[in-house]
Amino acid sequence: MNSFWKVQYIPKCSSTSSRLKDWLLSGECRQGTVLVAEEQSAGRGRLSRQWFSPLGNLALSLSLEPKARFEGKIYQYNLLASLALQKLIQEDYRQAARIKWPNDIHLEGKKLAGILSESFMGPGGPLIIIGIGLNLNSTATDFPEDLRDRLITLSDVTGQDHDLEDFVRCFLACFDGLLKLYHDAGFAVIKNRLEEKLLWRGETITVQEANQKKIRGICEGLDEDGFLILRDDKNRVRRILAGDVYCIGPSDQN
Ligand code: BTN
Repeated sequence: MNSFWKVQYIPKCSSTSSRLKDWLLSGECRQGTVLVAEEQSAGRGRLSRQWFSPLGNLALSLSLEPKARFEGKIYQYNLLASLALQKLIQEDYRQAARIKWPNDIHLEGKKLAGILSESFMGPGGPLIIIGIGLNLNSTATDFPEDLRDRLITLSDVTGQDHDLEDFVRCFLACFDGLLKLYHDAGFAVIKNRLEEKLLWRGETITVQEANQKKIRGICEGLDEDGFLILRDDKNRVRRILAGDVYCIGPSDQN
């Protein structure tokens, strides 16, 4: 595999993303470092939510320096990670995963994985950390009761346990390929692939943007930057920069 990625495994930490950020800021490591913990005690999710990472799950954070012409495009790196995870689950684990824009992976109508990306100024320039949490070998009962009916684990679906190191190796190979494609060809080709795997495309959804009223409309896909395009009840096209997406159609109540 490409030697750009230097993977470190640790049994436990509070949050792989927080730990990796400390290492990067103190100069202890550089871009390309990947930190994987078997368990997290204070995993962080989007919108300051808690992220549960019981033993047996994947908690991975990787670090990258954005290429100069992609600076400020953290959401596109984030979408790349979503696409890499979706592709891996579909091609290597034969499961029909879908991307719930922007950064969740869904299987059988439930959440399998979430991604949290952060950008900040490192000692040598801008850095991105992409943090991935995926329910690998746990079962629903390893999670708090109120979350159980909304999540799914890979081992529950396949009926077998999966090797963590194999998963990480295959994910990085897949992410690496998409990263090269993105840097060489730009976002357009990535956008087309993302749209093909987008959950609820063509269906009626509701979007909750931070501190805004909910918007309801048809999910039309993504624009050329990767933002969500919604056609609202008044036939106006809305561009959603960030938010929580829910489906109100018959195929997936969430
Ligand atoms: C979300 O769906 O809200 C995103 C969850 C991201 C969780 C991962 S687990 C590895 C990394 N470390 C963290 O503390 N969070 C991310």
